[in-house]
Amino acid sequence: MLPFVRPSGLETARLALRPVKHTDAADLFADYTSNLDIARYLPWRRHHTQSETEAMVRYGEDLAINRSAYLLAITLRTKTDKPIGLLNIGNSEHGISIGFGLTRRGWGSGYGSEVVAYITGWLLDQPPVWRVWGYCDEENEASVKVMTRAGMHFEGKLRRFAIHPNLSPEPRNCKLFASVRE
Ligand SMILES: CC(C)(COP(=O)(O)OP(=O)(O)OC[C@H]1O[C@@H](n2cnc3c(N)ncnc32)[C@H](O)[C@@H]1OP(=O)(O)O)[C@@H](O)C(=O)NCCC(=O)NCCS
Repeated sequence: MLPFVRPSGLETARLALRPVKHTDAADLFADYTSNLDIARYLPWRRHHTQSETEAMVRYGEDLAINRSAYLLAITLRTKTDKPIGLLNIGNSEHGISIGFGLTRRGWGSGYGSEVVAYITGWLLDQPPVWRVWGYCDEENEASVKVMTRAGMHFEGKLRRFAIHPNLSPEPRNCKLFASVRE
């Protein structure tokens, strides 16, 4: 169980984080979950129908009720409430895990590293949290760079660690990054 309540309104310099809503499903399907460039290295198959995205949002809500994971929408602070990405905060036996992605138009402006740097700091400020970690496919150079730029440390290669079904049905080698409270 996650040792803190779901955050409802966090802000970085340019971005805001809020719980994902059922009404986000259409935007998420149009700009995020249906896009193979975004889903390539992620652990779910690219969506072909909006109902798959609606189911993902419902599942995220169930996980939040159980405090197993919090799925947050990333939005631009000064623009609309429309999601430009997702951030997942998950529980694990040895710390808090994070996963993240941005819509294609959100790439290349430093938003990825901004949100990851912010959330690792925020999580490590929660009294019971000592470790925040994330992994990525070993070929996901953008994710490696984001976690590095956000101040997370490379801890090693995880052989055959995760299935990224848009690439292969076999578990793939991944890279592990973490920040800890010293
Ligand atoms: C990973 C992702 C969030 C990066 O977000 P972003 O906002 O474009 O990244 P930033 O602008 O913060 O860039 C941070 C660094 O990564 C580099 N970078 C960004 N995209 C890159 C790419 N496709 N290939 C290589 N480097 C890349 C930037 O040049 C920058 O490098 P620097 O620190 O040397 O200046 C985005 O590519 C994405 O949503 N990908 C699909 C989902 C995904 O794979 N998520 C990660 C799952 S573990």
